[in-house]
Amino acid sequence: MARKISAAFTLAAALAVGPALAQQTPQPPRADEAAAAQQVERQRTQPLNNAPIWREVRSGAPQSTTVRGIETDVLVQPRGETWRQARVPIAFWGGVLLALSIAGLAAFYLVRGPLGADDRPTGRLIERFSVADRAAHWLLAIAWVILAITGLVLSLGKEILLPLIGYTLFSALATIAKNLHNFVGPVLIVAVPWLFLRFVRDNGIGREDVKWLLKLGDFLRGREYPSGRFNGAEKLLFWILLVVLTTTLLVTGLILNFPNFGQGRVTMQNASLIHMIAAYLAIALAMLHIYVGTIGVKGAYQGMRTGYVDETWAKHNHAYWYEDVKAGRARQKFAQPGEGPAEGAAPAVDAPRAAPQA
Ligand code: HEM
Repeated sequence: MARKISAAFTLAAALAVGPALAQQTPQPPRADEAAAAQQVERQRTQPLNNAPIWREVRSGAPQSTTVRGIETDVLVQPRGETWRQARVPIAFWGGVLLALSIAGLAAFYLVRGPLGADDRPTGRLIERFSVADRAAHWLLAIAWVILAITGLVLSLGKEILLPLIGYTLFSALATIAKNLHNFVGPVLIVAVPWLFLRFVRDNGIGREDVKWLLKLGDFLRGREYPSGRFNGAEKLLFWILLVVLTTTLLVTGLILNFPNFGQGRVTMQNASLIHMIAAYLAIALAMLHIYVGTIGVKGAYQGMRTGYVDETWAKHNHAYWYEDVKAGRARQKFAQPGEGPAEGAAPAVDAPRAAPQA
């Protein structure tokens, strides 16, 4: 009995004293504590070097989340870091591409000036773009230019604008840019198919378009190879800029804009990188198109603004189309008296008002 009492006493004493003794006896640090301490030390000696954390995350160490669905138990997703790093060279080389495009177009304009005929307009106008053609084009063009500018603010603003305008202004600008980008993007759901349907009929690529493209040098020297309603370069623009790149931007943009359809982070990261690459290529091409459509080719902008071009312009820039219009084979017609742009908005330099068709 006495032995039992003594054993119970010893056990009670051990339970009472044990924790205190354990506190005094130095214990080797647990693995996670050691890793955390190592990381704290590393931040002191090598600030921003998070390699150990990422090594641990990439090792597939178990994580747990309360979120249910495709991202269950993926608290920190290792590929997020890969995506974050991949954005840097895309934005850098994209920025270089745009800078070179601007410099190239400016140099071409300084050396060559606007292309096109200097022949005197006859005053006989042809309807080149109907009201619906122009509405479809300008809806897309305005939305597209807003998206391009706001997208560039979001992509390159931190590197280019922030040092120039400071945090307060840049923060306001970036907030406006982000909201405009998110809300204007879905306009393309309507604008892209509309423009496609309006113009697809005249954008089939044929042998003459290949010849036109092979004779691009003539175009640059102001002696244009004949073309239909649209020339080879415009047709390439239609298929590459509108159909391939803008559709890619629309689809990837919607994946990013509406994350509530169950797509996970990997899908959104892929969408983001494709969106960036497509955007830089598309903006470079659109700059070329906007150059040709404004100061690059005489009379082109007035055609899209007013809907009418002078027959001299049609003959010089789209000779086959002009023949088709004359022969009544084209859907576009010579303007009748009273038709055409208002006074002062004539489509070519010195062009008088529309005269009846001879
Ligand atoms: C401020 C921006 C823009 C301006 C000033 C502009 C100007 C023009 C002009 C003047 C034309 C008529 C060319 C001709 O008569 O042959 C045209 C046609 C066209 N534009 Fe634009 N544009 C702009 C933006 C855009 C954008 C962003 C897109 C597409 C993403 C686009 C797609 C087209 C297409 C598809 C055509 C018809 C050419 C074809 O189908 O081959 N434009 N544009």
